[in-house]
Amino acid sequence: MIKENSIFHVFVTKDGPQRTFKQKIKVFLFLVVNRFYAFYLRKFRGVDLGRMCNINRKSKIDGVNPKGVHIGDFVRISQNALVLAHDGYRDGAYLDTYIGNHVNIGYGAVINPGLKIGNHVIIGANAVVTKDVPDGCILVGNPAKIIKVNIKLHDKGYMICRGERPL
Ligand SMILES: CC(C)(COP(=O)(O)OP(=O)(O)OC[C@H]1O[C@@H](n2cnc3c(N)ncnc32)[C@H](O)[C@@H]1OP(=O)(O)O)[C@@H](O)C(=O)NCCC(=O)NCCS
Repeated sequence: MIKENSIFHVFVTKDGPQRTFKQKIKVFLFLVVNRFYAFYLRKFRGVDLGRMCNINRKSKIDGVNPKGVHIGDFVRISQNALVLAHDGYRDGAYLDTYIGNHVNIGYGAVINPGLKIGNHVIIGANAVVTKDVPDGCILVGNPAKIIKVNIKLHDKGYMICRGERPL
């Protein structure tokens, strides 16, 4: 066992979070709704969305240029997070924003248009990403800065390698 969160009684083991039955039901229902939302984004909005993505229905994918958003596999986007692909301040430029595989975007985070996010990346809650992001790191803050490198994420989104602070 690596970590215990006593408030929610969630135990994170090497096999991922251990949940109570009630929590499992809740997570499953969220997953079903989120999968439908991903289907809607892919089919009706033209977002280039990979496999097994968990996109919260209350997250926001650029409404002006959804086709400019390219999302890889096993990506999780939390509530109120925003992925932009146009910039009205740069002569209305339509830009392409790329999000790699195994990327977790935290609550309320903003990805500016035209950026490339690498694979195995966590973007912390409320971070504002203003520059391209390399593989395997955690970013937090506004503007977002790298606080951990060499992280690795499981297909289900939890960290299998917690990485270390950059030098
Ligand atoms: C980024 C995150 C994953 C933590 O990663 P971590 O490797 O465990 O980071 P730590 O807790 O060791 O924190 C490292 C430093 O970053 C800071 N930090 C962590 N999260 C931060 C955030 N969202 N914004 C600003 N600073 C943050 C910590 O205060 C700490 O600062 P210090 O070095 O000055 O003490 C987590 O804080 C986070 O934001 N998770 C997203 C939660 C979320 O959105 N949940 C909803 C969907 S599941």
